[in-house]
Amino acid sequence: LSTVEFDTSKVAEGMQIVITWQGKPVFVRNRTAAELQRVIADNDASDLKEPQTDQERTKAGHEPILVVIGSCTHLGCIPTFGSGDFGGWFCPCHGSHYDASGRIRKGPAPANLVVPEYEFTAGSTIRIG
Ligand code: FES
Repeated sequence: LSTVEFDTSKVAEGMQIVITWQGKPVFVRNRTAAELQRVIADNDASDLKEPQTDQERTKAGHEPILVVIGSCTHLGCIPTFGSGDFGGWFCPCHGSHYDASGRIRKGPAPANLVVPEYEFTAGSTIRIG
């Protein structure tokens, strides 16, 4: 399918659900208030390799929800949440650390986890693609 719909209200706070879009894993994460506070505080962090604010990576009015392609931008391993130095994802293949906005902070990966094209269509439902 070139597009996929998903109701983000199925994702409990602090959790993520992995869905598949165009054969790729997509993480839909419902971030906690503490995670959100931390990534916003880091919008100007000097170690951002690909500087983006958290607001640029999410949709206004739905700030806790982060949607990213679950593929490390180094060589494509699947990063895991909850380890690493920045409160986000860690890629065990070669040690890339992403924050809870999916921004690369340390390690060989050159770029942030990719936010796919998506929009909220109705209420909490998103359409990716
Ligand atoms: Fe993730 Fe190399 S594939 S660090």
